[in-house]
Amino acid sequence: MPPTADKHRALIADLIDVVGAAHVLTALDERAGYELDWTRRYGGESTAVVRPATSAHVAAVLRACTRHDAVVVTQGGNTGLVGGGVPHNGQSSDRSTVVLSTRRIDAIGDPDLDAMQITVGAGATLAAVQARAAAVGLDLPVDFAARDSATIGGAVATNAGGSRVVRYGTMRHHVAGVRAVLANGAMVGSLAGLPKETAGVHWPSLLCGSEGTLAVITEVRLRLVPLLDHRTTALVTLADLDRAARLAGHLRRAAPSIDQIELIQPEAMQLVTEHLGRTPPLAVPDGGTFVLVESANRRDPTDELGAAIADTDVIDAVVATDPAPSQQLLDLRDRITEALAAAATATGTPVFKLDVAVPLRHLGQLVDVARRAANADGARLIPFGHVAEGNVHLNYLEATDTETIADTVLPAVADVGGTISAEHGIGVAKARWLPLIRTTDELDAQAALRRALDPAGMLNPGVLTP
Ligand code: MLT
Ligand code: ZN
Repeated sequence: MPPTADKHRALIADLIDVVGAAHVLTALDERAGYELDWTRRYGGESTAVVRPATSAHVAAVLRACTRHDAVVVTQGGNTGLVGGGVPHNGQSSDRSTVVLSTRRIDAIGDPDLDAMQITVGAGATLAAVQARAAAVGLDLPVDFAARDSATIGGAVATNAGGSRVVRYGTMRHHVAGVRAVLANGAMVGSLAGLPKETAGVHWPSLLCGSEGTLAVITEVRLRLVPLLDHRTTALVTLADLDRAARLAGHLRRAAPSIDQIELIQPEAMQLVTEHLGRTPPLAVPDGGTFVLVESANRRDPTDELGAAIADTDVIDAVVATDPAPSQQLLDLRDRITEALAAAATATGTPVFKLDVAVPLRHLGQLVDVARRAANADGARLIPFGHVAEGNVHLNYLEATDTETIADTVLPAVADVGGTISAEHGIGVAKARWLPLIRTTDELDAQAALRRALDPAGMLNPGVLTP
């Protein structure tokens, strides 16, 4: 039975008591932008979107939702790619659904220079925090194309990765503390940012990657790194993916200044250059690939990167050291997602995205499996990603039968010891395939942990649940 209008009204009234009427959005047009994900593939209806401004607001909102037995979907910048931050009707049709938007919790504290840390609201964007850190010679080195909209809370909840993981690791490496609110309104965690503390449950470890299922993260204490402002960018070509994988290993060993090693397969290069009205800067042989590499250091890293590249079987390379030409090369990687979205809009079919990672030696063979799946479906495969982590984003345009594609590719990934989600998360999109990489015992333990923290199953039901 759908919730009665009275039940809705009582919940909405309680939410208004907490944050004020201006921040409880109930009209269809006001809710719309929060109810559909960025890819336009996932989404559903909500009773209301609530926009708290403080951790105390979040606690009161969760207590109200508990009283009314509502489901809560936490949302940051709504840049997620697996449907984890939007309502998903059908899971909880007998309960009201509230989208809790963290975007107003966006304060950015003063950077603590000696600790090299900063405390920010969960709704602060990645780009805003990076800019604040850069102003004092520091950097938040988790970086990806959605930086202007993606929020810190979302990046923690999905343990976001991006292009600089090869040097700095994923988001969880940069979280020195969190404040979070449990389903019952209790506040947990600390923002002291102590580099050393061994005292039982470590909330950042528990909550990084939990996709809004264990608590609502409201504030984060982030670790920063020195800003390295001398950068050299190179686009290279190689004869195949196995050579690209070996290049990644070599660069990591030979060039300590390496900051990113990114994969652009020819199909992705074609799509992005057409989108940008440009031509590829290099030709690539049949079966070959492009790799974008960047080094960063306090002094010009060009010689170190050049020497490291010279010592490989790279076929051709263009190198940029000045910011403008360097950005031109970076755009060829950074703007593929945007090009995909434009292509999907033009065809009228949302892009179907798989985000897998395999041990490097299996990368070539895995992309072959993905290509065969595309051919069988009649879809167009656009592969790109993060070579150093064996992480390839398999994007299918105009796919007809996405379940069959996933049923072909994801078991192949699992068979070689890979993962069905390297950095986008499981959300609702990949939940069905979670048993490929987690045992029944592990899934039972995860469910028990969820029940312990959220007995009513209020937080993001359907997400991370096979
Ligand atoms: C990227 O690497 O650009 C992001 O993961 C986004 C995407 O896969 O589309
Ligand atoms: Zn990525």
